[in-house]
Amino acid sequence: MRPFKKLIQRLKDKNKSIARVFNDIYHSRRWTGSDSISGTGSGLAQTVALRRELSALLKRLNIKSLLDAPCGDFHWMKEVDLGTRCYTGIDIVSDLIVENQKKYNNEYRKFISFDISRDPLPQVDMILCRDCFVHLSFKNIIATIKNFKRSGSKHLLTTTFHKWTKNADIVTGGWRPINLQLRPFSFPDPIQIIDEQCSGAERQYWDKSLGLWKLEDIQI
Ligand SMILES: C[S@@+](CC[C@H](N)C(=O)[O-])C[C@H]1O[C@@H](n2cnc3c(N)ncnc32)[C@H](O)[C@@H]1O
Repeated sequence: MRPFKKLIQRLKDKNKSIARVFNDIYHSRRWTGSDSISGTGSGLAQTVALRRELSALLKRLNIKSLLDAPCGDFHWMKEVDLGTRCYTGIDIVSDLIVENQKKYNNEYRKFISFDISRDPLPQVDMILCRDCFVHLSFKNIIATIKNFKRSGSKHLLTTTFHKWTKNADIVTGGWRPINLQLRPFSFPDPIQIIDEQCSGAERQYWDKSLGLWKLEDIQI
């Protein structure tokens, strides 16, 4: 998006609820240029390393229940062998959830329309929160982390740019990289990092990763 268009969009998004912001993005197909409706980062090309590493991590940690919060269109995740694990995908865009339910529901998978920043979440072995905090204001990120902790779940696997040097606040609906080990989040060192190995135009974000933490180790 061009800088002027970005500014106008920011002003438009400023007073909207989180649900309104992401419903508008979904219905206007604002995140284009990919085989996924959730944007380039959610396409199959950008998730090759991630899909491989995630499968291995789920096995190694013996994860039996996974909350994908948010799940977007489940496009790349459908390629991950989830086996008989209990998978729950949640997203604030209810029309997207209805689509996912039609296409991907089965006895081990379910999809729910929830706001991850405030709706009560199930207690699971791992919460995966990929490519979401980058779109949220500090206030909404902190509320979401608190809500994840409230669920009593064990692990959090979430996007962080581990070499990024300064976090900036945004209006929810925009985008910027964040490093969760820096203020105002100050996470401890992650237990493990999955390097997403971004390619093509995304290569400029070479340190885009998923960091693994125990939720009890995050003080916020
Ligand atoms: C860029 S997509 C990423 C989706 C998925 N994690 C992936 O890797 O493909 C971001 C998603 O976050 C959802 N989202 C943003 N804020 C949310 C909230 N508070 N609760 C639930 N979903 C939210 C949006 O609707 C959108 O589908």
